[in-house]
Amino acid sequence: MPDSRPLPLPKDLDLGRMPTHVAIVMDGNGRWAQRRGLPRTDGHAAGEEALVDVVYGALAAGIKYVTVYAFSTENWRRPVDEVKFLMNFNESLLKRRARELGEVGIRIVFSGRRDWRVPRRVLANMDDAAELTRRNKTMVLNMAFNYGGRAELIDAITQLVEDGVPARKITEKAIRERLYHPEIPDPDLVIRTSGEYRTSNFLMWEMAYSELVFTEVLWPDFRREDLYAAVSEYQGRRRRYGGLDE
Ligand code: IPE
Ligand code: IPE
Ligand code: MG
Repeated sequence: MPDSRPLPLPKDLDLGRMPTHVAIVMDGNGRWAQRRGLPRTDGHAAGEEALVDVVYGALAAGIKYVTVYAFSTENWRRPVDEVKFLMNFNESLLKRRARELGEVGIRIVFSGRRDWRVPRRVLANMDDAAELTRRNKTMVLNMAFNYGGRAELIDAITQLVEDGVPARKITEKAIRERLYHPEIPDPDLVIRTSGEYRTSNFLMWEMAYSELVFTEVLWPDFRREDLYAAVSEYQGRRRRYGGLDE
């Protein structure tokens, strides 16, 4: 089991300038497995250790929010057996890990569509994990499941219309308030593993000014050291938000 103790952090990390929110596209599971002559699904299973180690690593470093892309609205295009595996796997991961994560102060929340395609028992386990950890305040683990950035915007716009918001009152704030988790600040840092250089419909609105770090490491091999390396790269960036350096 990954170590949940606060291990010594690398010396080059500036603890005064940690990202508040790190979001991760956990990619490369299938390739990790195929390179070993294993079925793709073994790669998803192997990704669990990476996830838990990274979550504990983030906790140890004082990162307040971690969002992970676990299943996209486009992943339904995969073979039905892989989709089924991912549904069962995410359900079992929650069943096995929610209590343990809750005990170290992590609150688990979800972003995504609760549509008919997600089996009811998976939704029930998501609700249980959220309920069990609801009072925790040390860190938020936001699991993007059946999540799409475009779907999130469509859902927000639908809500705007249902709320009867007039055209002149459509502001950034009005949209933001209708996203899945308006209370979570935008990600400061977005990491994508496996050498793919795209965002694949992740957090479209929220990552407008995020710093992006891409790594060749395949997700099942990713560990907290890789997270810290990405944070260190982030700390070397200058964020201007369209303005000028001081
Ligand atoms: C990411 O790994 C996990 C999910 C999309 C659920 P992939 O399954 O996309 O792995 P590759 O990209 O095919 O190697
Ligand atoms: C993004 O990875 C989705 C998740 C990691 C859950 P994909 O593997 O689905 O993205 P594409 O298809 O390579 O863009
Ligand atoms: Mg992929």
